Amino acid sequence: MDEPGIFISFEGGDGVGKSTQARLLGVWLGEVTGREVVLTREPGGTALGQVLRDAVLHGDHVDARAEALMYAADRAHHVATLVRPALERGAVVVTDRYLDSSVAYQGAGRELAADDVERISLWATRGLMPAVTVLLDADPVLAAERRASVEGKGAPDRLESVGAEFAARVREAFLDRAASEPHRWVVVDAAGAVDDVQAQVRVDVAARLGLGAPTPGAAEARA
Ligand code: TYD
Repeated sequence: MDEPGIFISFEGGDGVGKSTQARLLGVWLGEVTGREVVLTREPGGTALGQVLRDAVLHGDHVDARAEALMYAADRAHHVATLVRPALERGAVVVTDRYLDSSVAYQGAGRELAADDVERISLWATRGLMPAVTVLLDADPVLAAERRASVEGKGAPDRLESVGAEFAARVREAFLDRAASEPHRWVVVDAAGAVDDVQAQVRVDVAARLGLGAPTPGAAEARA
């Protein structure tokens, strides 16, 4: 990657705690690197992306190809207007989901070839890939239980309702991608307590970025 910033994505199934872990890592990276930190997400990291998010997750049924293109359109706009400018400023950008979510979710639906889905997003983003991708891996059944216990989560979105078999295929797709590109991915067991998972995320990300090993006590940055 040519930009001076640091681009990190979080991936995993629904309800594995990505947004919490992404936020905690972002806070910590800001402290240890002194850089600006931009926390964002897909779909919906921009105003246009929020419109696309509502349409794709809460609207009428969307054809599989149209759905893949909507995620890619969200990603194209997100990268062009938010992610790349931040990286050019030298920021740390931590995104809750990126291209691998499209490959895992749209590809795991089996109607679309994973290679096609990936190519569309690479075109959309002019090939921008994260320096590090953190896979928060958890059994989808455990993740569903965790989600149900989160207060005020509201009605499940369309993909969340599709079921256990789909969730299992998505998990396998993420694990396969991580295994085939080990230099980019770190895989962290997401079943533990928030602070324990975050401590492991920090150790693994620090190692990939060549930062010093984090001091124990990951909970400090939660405030
Ligand atoms: P997200 O907001 O991360 O929800 P959760 O916190 O429940 O994981 O993602 C919303 C949904 O969007 C999620 O079910 C996965 C789906 N998604 C795709 O299918 N393709 C994509 O490219 C992206 C970014 C998300």
